[in-house]
Amino acid sequence: MVKKNVNKDFLYNIFSTKILTKNLYTHRQHLIKIEVMLLRPKVLVTRKIPDRGINFLKTQCDVDVSQQNGSISRKELLKKLKSKKYDALLCLLTDKIDDEILDAAGSNLKIVANYAVGFDNIDLKACTERGVIVTNTPNVLNQAVAEHTVALMMAIARRIPEADKWARKGNYKGWDPNGFIGTEFNGKTLGIIGAGRIGTVVARICNKGFNMKVLYHDINKNPFIEQEANARFADMATLLRESDFVSLHVPALESTKHMINHKELAMMKKTAYLINTARGPVIQEDALLHALENKTIAGAALDVFECEPKLVCHPNEYQIFTHLDNIVISPHIASATIEARQGMSELAAKNIIAVLNGEMPITQVNTDLKVNAIKKGIVTDAANYFYARNGMVVKNLTELQSALEKMDDSTFNFHVNANKNDFVNWIRNTIKDQVAVALLEKAKTRSQAVNAIKHRLKVMIVAY
Ligand SMILES: NC(=O)c1ccc[n+]([C@@H]2O[C@H](COP(=O)([O-])OP(=O)(O)OC[C@H]3O[C@@H](n4cnc5c(N)ncnc54)[C@H](O)[C@@H]3O)[C@@H](O)[C@H]2O)c1
Repeated sequence: MVKKNVNKDFLYNIFSTKILTKNLYTHRQHLIKIEVMLLRPKVLVTRKIPDRGINFLKTQCDVDVSQQNGSISRKELLKKLKSKKYDALLCLLTDKIDDEILDAAGSNLKIVANYAVGFDNIDLKACTERGVIVTNTPNVLNQAVAEHTVALMMAIARRIPEADKWARKGNYKGWDPNGFIGTEFNGKTLGIIGAGRIGTVVARICNKGFNMKVLYHDINKNPFIEQEANARFADMATLLRESDFVSLHVPALESTKHMINHKELAMMKKTAYLINTARGPVIQEDALLHALENKTIAGAALDVFECEPKLVCHPNEYQIFTHLDNIVISPHIASATIEARQGMSELAAKNIIAVLNGEMPITQVNTDLKVNAIKKGIVTDAANYFYARNGMVVKNLTELQSALEKMDDSTFNFHVNANKNDFVNWIRNTIKDQVAVALLEKAKTRSQAVNAIKHRLKVMIVAY
């Protein structure tokens, strides 16, 4: 069909030089267009996600978005990856990225951008061995996940889903002084296990909003959560024994698998609640079911499950689980807000564009792998902040000064003070000014840091 039209055009053009020239021009334009299209990097997105990131990707890449309803099947993903030489893969936590998938994608693949903070669905070693950068989407969903965590705490402590179910059945006949008695937050103790980005926001909301005392347990001490939420570091046993609410925010790792088991549940107060918005395998499911059935703890609220998307690993436990009154569940929706999901979409796209342009991505996970085109420093939370905020890497002292000036004090404490060594190392590696490094090492507040950089710049100008 196309061939026929071209021939017709061609014959017609023989009779008109003017038209011939015009058509040649048009054909050339088409050819240039086709050539440009062919040169554009190819991105595969495994499921429809909010459009902000997709639209951004489309400005520079050819983007294929899977049109399947629900998650893409493994078979379909393999087929798609083999059908084109994709440069980038934007995938979801439901896509298992392993040797087989990477082999199907072939050597053209440069980046796997996960649309999630957790990256337990990705074989990092396999990616690193092939030189494939892996990125995730932290920070943009902190508030959404933290708010959902608090919503679950309230739902279980004030028995909202249980009361809702009861009232819908037509049971409400009049106010009952003894109906659905719950527990308050005020003055209670919250135990945060995994005091990272999300754990810190949960702690802040609960301390500032509900006057809760906060204990935290982590492999690292976090001065920021101590300052922001008056949190006190505690060993695991103390935290479990003293907390009225225990909230989990550790990543899914070998070291965190079944971190909450029979022993840990037995240490919790009989009146305490366990909240999990991290990852299912952090809790040993049988142990939790046992504790809930025997009421050795007051209740649990879960957004994630050990054998997700199954609610329970063993089908014969399904009935028990779904009939328990002292459990509230949500189907892995902690980050499900417009703001967070658009932010995740945008961040995943920015990571892809950066890597395809030979630049360092904003939130790289396998940080031991260097992007070829630039000498990458150490990725820190502070570095991430500067990239994300400015949309570009802070490369010199002037840019650092202006980035610091734009920060507010609490953000400075969160991103810089809490990770001072990493921050200073990052400056050492990217800006390579030893005097500035020494000055920044001493700066405790944002204004001290800004003044230090200003002073350094002045000295440099005078010396020049
Ligand atoms: N339910 C959801 O929709 C949802 C959304 C986003 C994130 N998440 C989960 O939340 C997790 C936390 O996210 P984040 O952005 O706060 O991560 P983060 O890396 O900022 O925080 C994790 C914290 O856990 C600590 N940690 C690691 N191993 C530990 C151990 N063995 N014992 C004690 N502490 C340990 C780390 O030191 C770190 O401070 C993610 O890994 C992800 O799995 C779930």
